[in-house]
Amino acid sequence: MISIAIDGPAGAGKSTIARAIAKELGYIYVDTGALYRAIGLYANANGVATDDPAGVERLLGGIKVELRYKNGEQRVFLNGYDVSEEIRRPEVSMAASNVSAIPAVRQFLFALQQNMAVEHDVVMDGRDIGTIVLPGAQVKIFLTASPEERARRRYDELKAKGHDVDYDALLEEVRQRDYNDSHRAIAQLKQADDALLVDTTGNTLEQSVQALTKLVKERLRDV
Ligand code: DC
Repeated sequence: MISIAIDGPAGAGKSTIARAIAKELGYIYVDTGALYRAIGLYANANGVATDDPAGVERLLGGIKVELRYKNGEQRVFLNGYDVSEEIRRPEVSMAASNVSAIPAVRQFLFALQQNMAVEHDVVMDGRDIGTIVLPGAQVKIFLTASPEERARRRYDELKAKGHDVDYDALLEEVRQRDYNDSHRAIAQLKQADDALLVDTTGNTLEQSVQALTKLVKERLRDV
């Protein structure tokens, strides 16, 4: 099986790029952030503070998270319910970042992620895919862009979906999440030694998709 790992901070374009590459190659796209979001959503819904490791850990026994694919699109199921839309709500982003710092949560989601890559050719995106989840991935990319550009992209995306959003608040959230994700005790957001660093600042998503698809195809020729 072939695995392509795409890591990087929020808003660097990972999901759009990973999805496009997966489609082009006929692989399955696995969005691992969605798994952490599902746990964050469940904690919020159950009134458990997402920065309370013991409280969140206690919840895990009652959670079943599954990934299913409908017309090639990933859907996330939480205890049998499709929460794919709900997990995109802005308040779930910080909840996901918080629960992702809890070792028991990472452990809980680890096998699910690895199994996807055992069973399918995958393009998997996240924070620790190239470093921890799939260290043997044939192609690893670390995708980044400036915080301002990432906040602007997020602003445009949420606005287009009809959400009421404030750019400065989004920029602050991007910075806060970067800090959280890079400074937690485990599985920090960092570039794997053998990952290619790609900065998409100043590029349109379309340009990045084209450039990255080409790059991945070239790399796969050497595998
Ligand atoms: O990619 P995203 O924004 O949907 O991810 C939500 C949060 O989940 C993010 O703040 C960090 C965390 N995450 C993680 O720690 N490891 C991953 N592999 C994917 C996401």
